[in-house]
Amino acid sequence: MVMARYLPPIMDDFEWKKQALLLFVCLDQSSPPLMDIHKAFHMKGGVGDNSYSKNSSLQKRVADKVKHVTTEAIQQVFITKKPKSLGIADLGCASGPNALSIIKQVVEAVESASRAIQQPPPEFRIYLNDLHTNDFNTIFQGLPDLYKELNRGTKQQPPLYIAACPGTFYGRLFPERSLHFVYSSNSLHWLSMVPRGIYDGEGRSMNGKSIYISERSPPAVRRAYLEQFQEDFSLFLKSRSRELIHGGRMVLVMLGRTASDHTHCANLFLWELLYQSLAHLVAQGEVEEEKLESYDVHFYAPSKEELEDEVRKEGSFRTEMVEVFEMERADMSGSYGTAVAKAVRCIQESMLAHHFGEGILDKLFHHYAALIDQESAKCDVRSTTAVLLLTKL
Ligand SMILES: C[S@@+](CC[C@H](N)C(=O)[O-])C[C@H]1O[C@@H](n2cnc3c(N)ncnc32)[C@H](O)[C@@H]1O
Repeated sequence: MVMARYLPPIMDDFEWKKQALLLFVCLDQSSPPLMDIHKAFHMKGGVGDNSYSKNSSLQKRVADKVKHVTTEAIQQVFITKKPKSLGIADLGCASGPNALSIIKQVVEAVESASRAIQQPPPEFRIYLNDLHTNDFNTIFQGLPDLYKELNRGTKQQPPLYIAACPGTFYGRLFPERSLHFVYSSNSLHWLSMVPRGIYDGEGRSMNGKSIYISERSPPAVRRAYLEQFQEDFSLFLKSRSRELIHGGRMVLVMLGRTASDHTHCANLFLWELLYQSLAHLVAQGEVEEEKLESYDVHFYAPSKEELEDEVRKEGSFRTEMVEVFEMERADMSGSYGTAVAKAVRCIQESMLAHHFGEGILDKLFHHYAALIDQESAKCDVRSTTAVLLLTKL
């Protein structure tokens, strides 16, 4: 059974405060006009050559690397709670095979645990969340094959109810205590907005010579990114704490960093090269300098300590495990730069097109691929990932 439905976010106390603050910022004349990221940002939909579906194998590698954490966490919840109806949410599911493969993984893990403890398996309620702009159809089209792989449709199998829940995960998405397990992979490094604090009194970005934190970014910019992450992640935890049952668990996987210094971060490499590629278009007269100076990304790679601090401050979860690890470079048959540029393009294209126009995209990513090949030949660049396992108190 497939259900597509819309749950309007329920506004409670802290949600109202956040909305009121946003309204205040929008009305404040000295602030820059805030772009509604949640309306503009989306992965490239469909199944074409440049789609997220066809270019998300790097994210799949990350999910596979932490598969044991996800499997054990959901099995533990099932074994301790033995619910008849198990509520699971994948937050920031995007479109394509990764969303289907995580459904398969959690269903098989629970069914295997149910056999081990000789308990009947539960019915599954699986909620797929992403922004309203997401292409949920591409996931739904893959469901018949998934049902076949999971032998659904036979009388012996408990039902699998899959629903889309569009909306931002920085706020409420689900009814009180309706979930047992929350999973989110490769999504929580996206902030709710470009930090307000990076703009000066005239609304100009103080990060004009970068698009994310770099060695050239002033301390105020680094601070503003950290503060935005703290505000967002705290709201995420607070929202999930209302939706999960006591003893429910969350596995959160996102890009992170190993050092406390923001600039010692392998993940900066790709932003820096994207900045250089845009600067190359400025030098060629294809992009106005001012346009580049006003472009900043809504991204943040937190350190282990920053993640632990927010969980402790928010207070609804116990940290069972937090690790930050580096991913080895994937073996690619063709050009590494081209593959990485395609992976970045299907994620960043909507935001770049919104700010610079679609006309620059082919040239930009052609140059970007060449730069990645050139620079990665000089050093072994690895991406850094953080994984957290939390239990609701
Ligand atoms: C790189 S994709 C990861 C998709 C999938 N989990 C995977 O591992 O392949 C990141 C996803 O997070 C979603 N996302 C970003 N911010 C979000 C928010 N505030 N609320 C819900 N989804 C969000 C994006 O729209 C995007 O689809």
